[in-house]
Amino acid sequence: MAEYKLLFEHTNDPTFRTLEGYKAKGGYKGLEKAVAMERSAIVDSIKTSGLRGRGGAGAPAALKWGGMPKEKKTEHYLICNADEGEPGTFKDKQLLETCPFELVEGMTIAGYAVQGDAGYVYIRGEFMDAAKSLREAIDEAYKANLLGKNIMGIEGFNFDLYIHLGAGSYECGEETALMSSLMGERGMPRLKFPHAPFPVIKGVWDKPTLIHNVESYSNVPYIIDRGAEWWASLGASTKNSRGTKIFSVSGHVNKPGNYEVEFGTPLMELIELAGGVRGTMKACIPGGSSMPILNVEKTHEAIIGYEEMMASGSMVGSGGCMVLNDTTDIVKFCWRTAVFYMNESCGKCTPCREGTRWMVQILERIVNGQGREGDVDLLVQVADQIDGRSFCPLGDAAAWPVKGMVKVFREEFDYYISHGRSMVGREAVLA
Ligand SMILES: Cc1cc2nc3c(=O)[nH]c(=O)nc-3n(C[C@H](O)[C@H](O)[C@H](O)COP(=O)(O)O)c2cc1C
Ligand code: SF4
Repeated sequence: MAEYKLLFEHTNDPTFRTLEGYKAKGGYKGLEKAVAMERSAIVDSIKTSGLRGRGGAGAPAALKWGGMPKEKKTEHYLICNADEGEPGTFKDKQLLETCPFELVEGMTIAGYAVQGDAGYVYIRGEFMDAAKSLREAIDEAYKANLLGKNIMGIEGFNFDLYIHLGAGSYECGEETALMSSLMGERGMPRLKFPHAPFPVIKGVWDKPTLIHNVESYSNVPYIIDRGAEWWASLGASTKNSRGTKIFSVSGHVNKPGNYEVEFGTPLMELIELAGGVRGTMKACIPGGSSMPILNVEKTHEAIIGYEEMMASGSMVGSGGCMVLNDTTDIVKFCWRTAVFYMNESCGKCTPCREGTRWMVQILERIVNGQGREGDVDLLVQVADQIDGRSFCPLGDAAAWPVKGMVKVFREEFDYYISHGRSMVGREAVLA
């Protein structure tokens, strides 16, 4: 299987960033078709397509679309999560910079289908180029009556789109923390279902809210224009993953970058698309830094699909594929990853606030050659106390990489403790 460019077909064409260029490549045909359909038929198309959220968890999109109230009693909102904070992931940034109209059209179709009044695109504050490109696309869409009041001359079809720049906090990518931040509050998470209603019932400003990732919304025009059955034929070799997935491939590969592939593609083929491994492969983290690490054997086995990747011991996650060669000191890599999650912990709950710090303290003494006997077991114990016991999934995201790296590369941790240094040789590091 080769690269399959659907969202990225025109990523290298600068005219695709303009409304004229986007329309010349078939843009806005999806919206034209959508407004001729019943709202429920659009939701049915999303269901037929089998689209799953690209933000990390892979939840069926139709559950959210179908969960929005059919009878409109108050404002309905849409949010696009463009916070993209997971280390190793940078595909939403490229989508916004080079294909902004896919998102604008996708959100407008979704707005029509769920009777949305306004959409908010929450963009990581550092993504200035992405915000600029989206700003220009939104301005053009307003001028062409593709946003605003009575869109395309259709009485009552009103939809506004706003950009909100975040301040660069990983936790603000978590949807309840994102909504708090959007409302001007501290970016801390809130209670979720079953202790609180889903956002489609009570979301931002307590109104029904549809939240998706950039890549999820950007697929919508293609599903409506080319047909849900056609779209669902992509990835048909997998159990339940449809369409394409964009992976950000980084680390020890010859051509790091974003690559779009059909679900069902072997993980090794994705790595080959990125120019193959620089040196000898040691491991791969396929879905972003919070996902469990795979050894070489598992990387060779792994197929890109939500269920398929789990069968190999990791997850598709947000698509941040990090490739590591044999010069990598896994223990130091583990420590650096743990520092990130400690810094990003919002501090609201004890297991994550204290546990992430304890994990860093243990890892720090190990990499400084002062590890104590029993430290590796203690590290796993602390990770176990965070995993599944924290207020929001950031705690799990902090615990999984640590648990995964100890599980797969235990002898490297033990070696550090018994020898006071890394088992990755100096010659290998210099190679
Ligand atoms: C700590 C944390 C950070 C997250 N960061 C992001 C992010 O940057 N972008 C994103 O789309 N989803 C992120 N998510 C997932 C969102 O909470 C949410 O599930 C997602 O935006 C829903 O969109 P989807 O249905 O299209 O996947 C994060 C989740 C957690 C727990
Ligand atoms: S797990 Fe707890 S401390 Fe960590 S980010 Fe979530 S709420 Fe904050």
